[in-house]
Amino acid sequence: MTIEHPQRVAIIGGGGRVGLPLGLVLCEAGHTVTVIETNTAVIETIQSGTMPFDERGTKELLPRSLASGRFVFSSEESDLSQQDIIIVTIGTPVDEYLDPDVRAFDRVIESVLQRMRDGQLLMIRSTVFPGVTERLGRQVTDKERRIDVSYCPERIAQGYAIEELTKLPQLVSGCSEEATIRATDFFSDLGVKTIELSPTEAELCKLFTNSYRYINFSISNQFYMTAQHYGADFTRIHAAATQDYSRMNGFAKAGFAAGPCLLKDTMQLASFNHNLLPLGQHAMMVNEGLPRFLVDQVMKTQDLRQATAGILGMAFKGNCDDSRSSLSYKLKKILTLECKTVLCTDPYVPSSDLVPLERVLSESDVLFVGACHDEYRDITSPKPIVDVFGFLRTEKE
Ligand SMILES: NC(=O)c1ccc[n+]([C@@H]2O[C@H](COP(=O)([O-])OP(=O)(O)OC[C@H]3O[C@@H](n4cnc5c(N)ncnc54)[C@H](O)[C@@H]3O)[C@@H](O)[C@H]2O)c1
Repeated sequence: MTIEHPQRVAIIGGGGRVGLPLGLVLCEAGHTVTVIETNTAVIETIQSGTMPFDERGTKELLPRSLASGRFVFSSEESDLSQQDIIIVTIGTPVDEYLDPDVRAFDRVIESVLQRMRDGQLLMIRSTVFPGVTERLGRQVTDKERRIDVSYCPERIAQGYAIEELTKLPQLVSGCSEEATIRATDFFSDLGVKTIELSPTEAELCKLFTNSYRYINFSISNQFYMTAQHYGADFTRIHAAATQDYSRMNGFAKAGFAAGPCLLKDTMQLASFNHNLLPLGQHAMMVNEGLPRFLVDQVMKTQDLRQATAGILGMAFKGNCDDSRSSLSYKLKKILTLECKTVLCTDPYVPSSDLVPLERVLSESDVLFVGACHDEYRDITSPKPIVDVFGFLRTEKE
């Protein structure tokens, strides 16, 4: 792919899970990308030609970008006036009260604005609280700055960013017509379809998407618990309900619904709606309650006090190295209270706390699937295995 209008693009948070794949794709397309990243260890890793995390398709892309001379690095406080577009991809967490930490975002934006010049496009790509973009647009106008402010949320699934960035339709919005046109042109140049919304609509669209998925997973997790109460097999019920019956295509499998975005974004939406999002809040209770439910089920038939429990997979999802907000760690905490020993393994997550799979299999009295890594698909064991995902291959398959 070659773009018609190469631009100079700075990415604030350019070493992160969203920022880095985006930078690589933009560089590959012909833009000049400046990575602005506070984590110096991450910068060193990238500069050495190694990805700081797993992302399909980056093995060749990263060295190619570095060799192009159009993939460069700059410090947090660097001058941004030489750029055409500044894209913000920093984290936007909720605090300990499940409220969005807007102040941290504001602080970064304040510093970014000071280093920008008039005529530039500021594109917010982090998932933000509804109203943040319009407010930013007003701040810029109040300061009599002529900076175009747009919000174009990232919608990739971690691990598939390189493929999805040039395939998924891109939501674009701007605080002015000019900002919207510039953002639209930028993504159209990459060959992706664009869908125009107002900034608040785009903010809500992103939050609705993640909340919808989170609530949807909770339905299946609730049904899983119901099936368990009655000694029925949820996986068999799910297979029957979805077989040749397209009306149930959206019926998710049960499993840990976690990670850095789904719960956080559902809580952002609740917070926006005066803390009233009963479906989202109930979804949190169901999804976050699942690890305790699984342990309680085991304890009905097995005394765990002298037992060793093993967890297969600590990442928040299968075939992924990201353990942020993974429910496997919540499961580990509960098992640590109930069992003598807890052993955890994961082929992707880098952590000194983990032990080899073979040890977990041989020493555990009960096993829990924590993440659906392909490596586990054919595991069998004489010990009980709790597989809430219905992931392990059964004899009939
Ligand atoms: N991870 C995903 O799959 C995904 C998908 C869609 C949207 N999002 C959203 O994108 C945003 C970023 O998520 P992420 O997973 O990439 O987070 P991340 O923590 O992986 O990346 C953020 C990066 O920003 C850096 N950073 C923080 N402050 C900075 C500053 N002042 N200057 C420069 N760099 C700074 C951090 O060191 C980090 O490397 C969040 O709003 C998230 O909700 C994430």
